Amino acid sequence: MDNTALVVGSINMDLVVSTEEIPGLGETVLGNSITENPGGKGANQGVAISKLGKRVNFLGMVGKDGLGHRALKSMEAAGVVVDHIKRIDGTTGIAIINVDKAGNNNIIVIPGANEKVDRNYLEENIDVFKASDIVIFQLEIPLESVKFGLELAKKLGKITVLNPAPAADLDDDILKNVDILIPNEHELKRISKMEVVDEGSSVKAARLLIEKGVKKVIVTLGANGVLYVDENQYKLFPSYNVEVVDTTAAGDSFIGGFVSSYMVEKNVEAAIERGQKTAALCIQRLGAQNAMPTRQEVEGFKRI
Ligand code: RIB
Repeated sequence: MDNTALVVGSINMDLVVSTEEIPGLGETVLGNSITENPGGKGANQGVAISKLGKRVNFLGMVGKDGLGHRALKSMEAAGVVVDHIKRIDGTTGIAIINVDKAGNNNIIVIPGANEKVDRNYLEENIDVFKASDIVIFQLEIPLESVKFGLELAKKLGKITVLNPAPAADLDDDILKNVDILIPNEHELKRISKMEVVDEGSSVKAARLLIEKGVKKVIVTLGANGVLYVDENQYKLFPSYNVEVVDTTAAGDSFIGGFVSSYMVEKNVEAAIERGQKTAALCIQRLGAQNAMPTRQEVEGFKRI
């Protein structure tokens, strides 16, 4: 069973606006284009893992609308097992994403069906938890459901991964069930309630979370690389130098690459490197799920 991941998370349709500059408050600018791309942090991570050759089960919800239909088609085409995803009355999650000419973005998510992912639905699908080895969560479904899902996964002896995005306050009852926490700097600051300005302060903040029960903390630092912290050591992994087109789903692609390796090899360093390669390829393309690289692309990728 060493090859099955379960993602419990969000499914969105992204409406992506490309523009020279992202407008400030009260400003109006002309954009270049608008496209509809399948996204959602959960779905992106599931697609990334699946494209890297691992079986991925998925628990989440979409509306019975055209967006939901197209979102499921995208996940299915990437090989994600969509059989347990529930289609409900109401709208599919939507993300409005502005991307500027340097590849920077801002995102507003309207959760829609993602908000309905509740404890009952997870309990009904306990067999899907049992059939998976590693369970991955983000924070685009209700926090109570994430808390329950983490507890359930731990009780069943699974490896748990939490990507605490978008940033939220997390209580100790959540942290104690997380084996691998993968925040960015802002999320680490929010969860630890500590200053996070450099390597030293990031290590301190990560160690505080380790005292609360998290086993490993992996901080994604964008162009500054990835910082790994556990009880005994820490290490900075420099980033790959690539031409950035769109940073949307950079974190999701890192997690996809990391999980696809870690779930089999259980080697953190090798998994971080695979995550970095996956992200380096993803950010050279526009979009989220359709920017995720294949296994062949990741295996052929070399540091410049
Ligand atoms: O992490 C990127 C994702 O965040 C986008 O695909 C969007 O849907 C939001 O969930």
